[in-house]
Amino acid sequence: MASFASHSEVVAEEIIPTIDFGLLLNGTPDQRSDMVQTLAKACEDWGFFMVVNHGMPDQLRDEMLEAFKTLFDLSDDEKAPYVGGHVLDPIRIGTGFNSKIDIGKCWRHYVKIFVHPEFHSVPKPLNFRDISREYSECTRAIGLELLKAIWEGLGIEEGRVREALKLDSCFQILVANLYPPYPNHDATFGFLPHSDHGLATLLYQNGVDGLQIKHKDRWVYVKPAPNSILVNTGDHLEILSNGKYKSVLHRAVLNSEVARMSVVTAIGPALDAIVEPIPDLVNEDFPAVFRGMKYRDYLEQQQSNSLAEKGALHLVRL
Ligand code: OGA
Ligand code: NI
Repeated sequence: MASFASHSEVVAEEIIPTIDFGLLLNGTPDQRSDMVQTLAKACEDWGFFMVVNHGMPDQLRDEMLEAFKTLFDLSDDEKAPYVGGHVLDPIRIGTGFNSKIDIGKCWRHYVKIFVHPEFHSVPKPLNFRDISREYSECTRAIGLELLKAIWEGLGIEEGRVREALKLDSCFQILVANLYPPYPNHDATFGFLPHSDHGLATLLYQNGVDGLQIKHKDRWVYVKPAPNSILVNTGDHLEILSNGKYKSVLHRAVLNSEVARMSVVTAIGPALDAIVEPIPDLVNEDFPAVFRGMKYRDYLEQQQSNSLAEKGALHLVRL
């Protein structure tokens, strides 16, 4: 288990790479190609970056936060059908990381909803379905466009990855994390150190900081630029890239006075895609360092364990 004393390792601030999404989408060929290189470097050096000019309307983002807030505030009876359950249940409400194991270690409430390839929603609040559908479509479009630029930066042909990962049926989860104020916030985490499964995670928070990422053996406090979306690389990008892009470790700390909320979009391969290092990046000098595993099996095995500081890549490491 992580040592709580490690809060003190935090270094104040570093400049986190910024990706101008507008230039990826509508820039001149030179501008796009420069941005693809910036993105490749961000993935290689950090596994983490802020996306600006992403085109997501402020109003949609605020409505999504508000709808999740209302959902968290529903009575226990109304939430009961979604509490507990299996990692592959499409709607889950809980606390900690894995509700059965981690109670007391993470001061966190969460809602997780599968929104692609099949869209799921909750009946209440009434506007949740429309807002979450629009929000999910918007974040999926941004995420897939970023991934396209990531394949380009890796020098692999987009069509091949799309086919290997069955990205037309990409698995997308919409998550909200609520971290209530916690007086002794030096003693407990909101979210213990972990890496994310999947390819990329997009995060937007309610203006309250708390996310930290591990960079060069130090924890770095993330202070996002206003309206930016934070993105980190996931385990399956590390597997696919044969370890060239690392899945970044991150954690969330608490605030003693105000509640923090984050809305997270996880984008992964199709559940039945077997993810392994792409042959283009495997050769005599760089032999495969991971074995293939079906994404669904990885999810089940990862989530049935308590959070390990090293993430879950050991499941597939050769
Ligand atoms: C996550 C996560 C961090 C945060 O949901 O995987 O790392 O700041 N969240 O909420
Ligand atoms: Ni995470």
